[in-house]
Amino acid sequence: MKTKITELFGIEYPIILPGMSWISVPELVAAVCNAGGIGYLATGPLSPAKTRESIRRIRQLTDKPFAVGATLLMPGAYENALVAVEEKVPVLNISLGKGETLIKKVHAYGGKIISTVTTVGHALAAEKSGADALQVTGYEAAAHGSQVTTLVLVPAVVDAVKIPVVAIGGIADGRGMAAAFALGAEGVGMGTRLSITKESPVHELAMQKQLECGIEDTIYSNRFDALYCRILKTPSGEKAVKQGRNLAKGVMASFDIAKSMDLSWMKLATSILSGAKSDKPERPKDTPAKTDSVPKQKKEKTSLFQKMMKGPQTGMNMAHMAQAYVAIKKATENGDLKDGVYLSGQVQGIIHDIPTVAKVINRTVEEFTKIQRDLAQIK
Ligand SMILES: Cc1cc2nc3c(=O)[nH]c(=O)nc-3n(C[C@H](O)[C@H](O)[C@H](O)COP(=O)(O)O)c2cc1C
Repeated sequence: MKTKITELFGIEYPIILPGMSWISVPELVAAVCNAGGIGYLATGPLSPAKTRESIRRIRQLTDKPFAVGATLLMPGAYENALVAVEEKVPVLNISLGKGETLIKKVHAYGGKIISTVTTVGHALAAEKSGADALQVTGYEAAAHGSQVTTLVLVPAVVDAVKIPVVAIGGIADGRGMAAAFALGAEGVGMGTRLSITKESPVHELAMQKQLECGIEDTIYSNRFDALYCRILKTPSGEKAVKQGRNLAKGVMASFDIAKSMDLSWMKLATSILSGAKSDKPERPKDTPAKTDSVPKQKKEKTSLFQKMMKGPQTGMNMAHMAQAYVAIKKATENGDLKDGVYLSGQVQGIIHDIPTVAKVINRTVEEFTKIQRDLAQIK
């Protein structure tokens, strides 16, 4: 297939595996790349050393282009992105941060940047800052999505920008792909779908639960972590949302995070309180998630009080996210749906099997091609 996205990334099919913590690991990333799509390594839970090791592992498993994802708002993410730059990865996916300096560094060695956005404003800002493509995440998506559905958000962004768009959120097959292309996208991403495959490291129990659940069995709330986030509807998910923010639990959870990132807890806490490193202004509180830059802000003088509160507020949000992080890890790695919380998209309700990655990609492309032919017959 030839679209602006296949040309930009040098891939066979414009199908993307997004970054999913503990899931988009080298083996799954490489499986997607070897099947003709492109996978993003999730670096959220990784230290810089583990990021480098994972990039090198991907290179052992595939000679195809791949990507590295960095959620710039998170502590340690910028450092991981710099490792990706040093390793000259073919594509860098950035979210929750504009990253102009990173973009320049990636372009300097000939790499490409795809920015994840959830609003038209953020799409325009990402384009202006030099992104080569946009990943537009709709409301249906697992984890952090938009307040607007993919059906409405994608054409709105396509109309506003000149760079190619990948649609993501609610896509699991060739029908979703055809719909996204009809809206003007030139590529699609599939998170929930590709996480329910033979090569996926997701615990069997979490996969089976999703197969049993319907399109309405998710919750979209900003009470689970600090951003709007879509989770699987389970008793523990409902409890977590009802309970909301719990500073003590968040602080406890941050010890786990520091350990997994090979950071001292003190270093993690300092980095949180001083605001995560990113070459962008800080995202205001309660901005819908996975945005690429801050929306238009009134130029206001920051008062000393605001300056003082900025760190603690970020700290509260991060503690909230840390709490979520531990719950998600439990469900993803251990299949613990009793205490853990699992991320899932609405599209889970139209997923009924656990095939190989290659099967998902091949049948998606076949179905897409058939739909194109069938639609062309309509007089
Ligand atoms: C199990 C699971 C885990 C995810 N983990 C992350 C994550 O760690 N960071 C992130 O930015 N997005 C994460 N996502 C969201 C995906 O990157 C993507 O935006 C979403 O899956 C797209 O919607 P879809 O599931 O309808 O395809 C996750 C998604 C799933 C299904």
